[in-house]
Amino acid sequence: MNRRYRKTIIAGNWKMNKTLTETKAFAEAFKPLLNRPKWCEVVLCVPYVNLQAAIRLFKDSKVSIGAESCHYESTGAFTGEVSPEMLKDIGVKYVIIGHSERRQYYNETDVTVNKKVKAALEAGLQPIICVGESLEQREMGVTMDLISYQVRCALSGVPAEKMRKVVFAYEPIWAIGTGKTATSAEAQEVCEGIRTIIRKKYGARVARSVTIQYGGSMNPKNAFELLSQPDVDGGLIGGASLKPDQFMDIINAANQE
Ligand code: 13P
Repeated sequence: MNRRYRKTIIAGNWKMNKTLTETKAFAEAFKPLLNRPKWCEVVLCVPYVNLQAAIRLFKDSKVSIGAESCHYESTGAFTGEVSPEMLKDIGVKYVIIGHSERRQYYNETDVTVNKKVKAALEAGLQPIICVGESLEQREMGVTMDLISYQVRCALSGVPAEKMRKVVFAYEPIWAIGTGKTATSAEAQEVCEGIRTIIRKKYGARVARSVTIQYGGSMNPKNAFELLSQPDVDGGLIGGASLKPDQFMDIINAANQE
């Protein structure tokens, strides 16, 4: 983390979890834990159907609400899809784009990721852009080549002045939901690499202001060590964000001096 130049963001990605009833129960248990002043921004990315309820439930708290994906068009014949404008209009602040599960199961490509990033920024949302390699790619030694390609595609046509709104999440696919975490050195190496790519494209000032999260089996035990790395500015948390106490423990780890 480097709090001087950029925000630390701890974000939960609920994926396809929690009914409305369960969302309310989470808020009830979680909000009282959040009272103390905090350094970092807290975000919860929840399924579309529960966005409005989550926004209401966390209205007077420090928690911002995010969506888990969006379309790249603002309106049109795209049955089942939700546009960035629709999300912005109800008070959503962040949107996850290019999560590996969307790349793997729903045909998300680097081209659609780029379109979605531009559409989200245009609508006034803050994209959390996910990049990451598979185990095979890591073992082949092409991790940074792949990450560089994903980052450069995602940012194609994104002007420097919009970079203040962009968040990256390095999520090695082999660490997602597996209980296997990248070592803090591995997380640092890739997050630093992402910042270098941004620096080459936009210069040092922009690069040092961008929040770059780590995601993949982050939990209360490993969070502090990961977040202590200079270029790891937060977490994108799946499983552990579903439990109020565990999510709060990770936030506390980010708030340690
Ligand atoms: P887990 O924390 O469950 O590994 O999920 C990480 C993730 O995919 C967050 O987007």
